[in-house]
This record gives sequence, C-alpha cells and structure tokens, in this order.
Amino acid sequence: MTAKRFKNPRAEHGYQGRPCSILSVGSYVPERVLTNAELEKTVETSDEWITSRTGIKERRVAAENEFTSDMAAIAAQRAMQAAGIKPEQIDLIIVATITPDMLFPSTACLVQQKIGARRAAAFDIEAACSGFIYALEIGKQFITSRTYDTVLIIGAEKLSTIVDWKDRNTCVLFGDGAGAVILQSRPGSHGLLTACMGADGEKSDLLYMPGGGSMCPATANSVAAGLHFLRMDGKETFKNAVTAMCNAAGEALRRCELTIAQIKCVIPHQANKRIIEAVGERLGVREDQVFVNLDRYGNTSAASVAIALDEAVRTGVIQRGDLVLLVVFGAGLTWAAAVIEW
Ligand code: ACO
Repeated sequence: MTAKRFKNPRAEHGYQGRPCSILSVGSYVPERVLTNAELEKTVETSDEWITSRTGIKERRVAAENEFTSDMAAIAAQRAMQAAGIKPEQIDLIIVATITPDMLFPSTACLVQQKIGARRAAAFDIEAACSGFIYALEIGKQFITSRTYDTVLIIGAEKLSTIVDWKDRNTCVLFGDGAGAVILQSRPGSHGLLTACMGADGEKSDLLYMPGGGSMCPATANSVAAGLHFLRMDGKETFKNAVTAMCNAAGEALRRCELTIAQIKCVIPHQANKRIIEAVGERLGVREDQVFVNLDRYGNTSAASVAIALDEAVRTGVIQRGDLVLLVVFGAGLTWAAAVIEW
C-alpha cells in the first residue's frame, strides 16, 4: 500500500540496495533546568525578549562532570532498550557533535566503551546543527549496501561549554542534550526515503568558534580573548536558515513526489520559533503538522532533531507508517532535509 503513496528515490537508476529504517529512538537531557528568569539575573535580558524573539523558555545544562559522551551513551542505551538491541549487535557508531569530549579520540569511541559495543567501528562527524541528518544518511549507506546490519546514530552536545555566558546575544539560545536512533533494514518498511544535504563554506564566518583548533590553538591569550566561545551573526544566520531549509525540504519532497499535505509530522531544527514559523509558512505546513519542543530545550545543535523525534514517537504524534519530514540548518553553513516512512 505504501509503495503507491510516494516515489521511492532509491529505486532510481536501478539501485537495488535494501531499505534502511529507524528501528527505535531514545534521548537524554540533563536534570538541571536553566530558565529565562535565571538568565535575567546574569545578563541584561528579559523573559519577554527571549520568548518573543526565539520561543525559548528554558534549556538544560549538563553537570560539570557530565560530558557529551555520557549524554550520548544514555540516549543510545534508551534507543537500544526500545528496540531490544544488545550492545554486541551494533556494527557501527556515528556521533554527530560540535562539542566532543576531546578533539580526539572521537566521542563515538568513548560511547562505544561506555555502552560496551565492543564489535562496533566508531567515528564522529561534524556538520553542526545539520549533523544528525548527515549522520543518518551516512549510516543508511552502510545498511543499504549490506556492509552492516545495525548502526547506532547519535546527536549529542554540551554546548554550555562553548557558550559565553556573558554574551546575551548567544547565551540565551543554546542547551545540552542527546538523541540516538538504531538503524536496521526492517521488513515491510521503506524507512529513510531520501536525504538532501548541502553546504556553503563561503558563509563559514556566520557561526563559528575561532579558538582551540589548528588555526588558533589554545593559549593564555586566546582564552583571555574569548576565542574558545562560539560567535554568531544572528540576523544573517536567520535569513540563510529560512532559505536553505525551505529549499532542502522542497527538494526532498519533490524527489519522493510528495506534497507537504501528505507529511504527518515535520520536525525542524529547534533553533528559533520564528525560523520554524517562516519555514512552515513558505512550505505551506499546517500548525498541527510541526513538532516543536524548543521552549523547553533551546537549540541543542546536532541533538535537536533527535530529541524532538524521540518525544514525537513517545507521545504518539508519529506512528508506524507515517511520513515524517526532518529539516535542519547549521554552521558551515550546512543544511539537510530527510523524508522517512516511519
Ligand atoms: N536580550 C535582550 N536583548 C538582546 C538579547 C537578549 N538576550 N540578545 C540580543 N539583544 C539585543 C541586541 O543587542 C540588539 O540590540 P541593538 O539593536 O541595540 O544592537 C537587538 O537585541 C537585536 O535585536 P533584533 O535585531 O531584533 O534581533 P533578532 O530579531 O535578529 O533576534 C536572534 C536575534 C534571536 C539571535 C535571531 O537573529 C536568531 O535567532 N538568529 C538565528 C540564530 C540561530 O538559529 N543560530 C543557530 C544556528 S544552528 C547552529 O549551527 C548552532
């Protein structure tokens, strides 16, 4: 029945790979809630400004001794539990993050150890807020090509460590958390139908962190200059986000010969309610089709869509067989959209 609802782009060019589905999803957010009211006490801002400009009411902040890999491991364990997957079954772990525990080894290797997935290969990818869909599409290739049977994809961030808590332009926007999915080929499901990914390095200066890499290694001077904090041109980022998300979503739908009305649930990157509304308006999305939880978590970058997907599944918003559109945007610049038959 589902085959008649949409075109499966995988079938194009005679490609015979097997389908790849999201078997299960899990997420974790730290206990500590940081409200707008608390931020009013530390920077010159107001709950009214933050709510009206972003839609964010509160965000989660990880404990000092709670790292990206810890949050990632809990989200992964929850996804594994939901699908009845044992750690030894996992063939590959991909972690999308811009806040790895360390520059190396990869956070994926640390997660591998924490969840006991001894057989798994492991690596990180970095595409900022677009990282989860990028990772999903990479993981899918290993399933469709039959290289691996079980792939664990995680988006996890401890953005509180790269935010300048004295900069009101940025500190009100971000939060910590992790989301994870298990990929397998599930009989009877088309799963991940398509993903459109893009990047524009010409605009890398809109959102970046200058310090800590090979260009500007950490020194007393770099730290004193605050180069280890993220920097953002909010207005330009906003404009580019709307255009790129609309284009990517439109292209993904076109590839599947779907209209937006056929999508049960749109899960956009949870950066700013106004970006989500602008994208929704241009795509013709009904309000009841969009899943939003940024009021409680802020922008958790690579974790954002994964956490939202978990909530949408757990609350019954998404049921098996539903068509889901994920659409993201982030530093790089990068963007991506994916259509999934859940
Ligand atoms: N509280 C009060 N005032 C503030 C605050 C604050 N927290 N932050 C900024 N302001 C002030 C500024 O200082 C500025 O004041 P000025 O005009 O006197 O200089 C003014 O508010 C700016 O206001 P607007 O121009 O109206 O701000 P805007 O509507 O552009 O909203 C925002 C700013 C929320 C940052 C918006 O531009 C935005 O969301 N941009 C996209 C950001 C984003 O999504 N980034 C993540 C990308 S994903 C990734 O890869 C991490």
